Amino acid sequence: MENGGGGRGEEIKWRFEGENEKITTAGKITIRGILDILMSSLDSNDVRPKIPLGHGDPSAFPSFRTSHDAEDAIVDAVRSANFNSYSPTVGLLPARRCIAEYLSRDLPYELSPDDVFLTIGCTQAVEIALTVLARPGANILLPRPGFPYYEARASFNDLEYRHFDLLPDQGWEVDLDAVEALADENTVAMVIINPGNPCGNVFSYQHLKKVAETARRLGILVISDEVYAHLTFGSNPFVPMGVFGSIVPVLTLGSISKRWIVPGWRLGWIVMSDPNGVLKKTKVVSSCFSMVVKVDAV
Ligand SMILES: Cc1ncc(COP(=O)(O)O)c(C=O)c1O
Repeated sequence: MENGGGGRGEEIKWRFEGENEKITTAGKITIRGILDILMSSLDSNDVRPKIPLGHGDPSAFPSFRTSHDAEDAIVDAVRSANFNSYSPTVGLLPARRCIAEYLSRDLPYELSPDDVFLTIGCTQAVEIALTVLARPGANILLPRPGFPYYEARASFNDLEYRHFDLLPDQGWEVDLDAVEALADENTVAMVIINPGNPCGNVFSYQHLKKVAETARRLGILVISDEVYAHLTFGSNPFVPMGVFGSIVPVLTLGSISKRWIVPGWRLGWIVMSDPNGVLKKTKVVSSCFSMVVKVDAV
């Protein structure tokens, strides 16, 4: 077949030709995109061994095995044939109840299953949060260094992002002065990743309280990516940002990918850690609901 041809000899100008630049640009700033660039830039004649810094694959490394209880629960669910149908778009009630109870253990208030939306890994939780908050002219504050999927997702949603630094001399704490300086009347949220990726830091209770007070002063919500919750290095215990939910509304994002070492199972959540109901009043909850309904319909 000729290039660009329709297979019958004639030249056709296909109207769908060309890359979607938005997707290509967003794809380049994901971890996998950067890794691909790195790997393709290696000198194939260099025989020195390479250390695969991007490795945490539980299938490649059998020492990373989830518990038999977790495996049995999946097998039982499959064999029961009770879960072969379409589930409610927000997720099955027993699963949302379990997540609400599990996260409430570390909070000074009780989450309800209605505060929990199930997602396809924490990745879809990020996608929902950033899609719901994107509106013309809005901006969001992201940590640097951080997890590049936030930048990719923000670009994809036409949501402007601005970076605040994490401070290496202060245990990678948030530069709160920078947050204050960057925010304006169009800022809708700031993101924290705790425990941190890529720095591995764990924010102290006192620091998280300051983050909450700063965000409250600015009138923005906090998106707290806790996908590494309870996987801590150093002496700071893990404190969920939701502890400060009565100071500032928090969207808590998480999944079973890391703590249970099953990233391929693709189960995550987005949780309204917001005992004062600000997210309900400001319609963030109903937008999340519409978003999961829309994704499910697709
Ligand atoms: C900070 C952070 N957020 C979100 C994710 C995505 O998590 P999941 O694999 O559950 O989609 C990752 C995965 O590496 C991550 O490091």
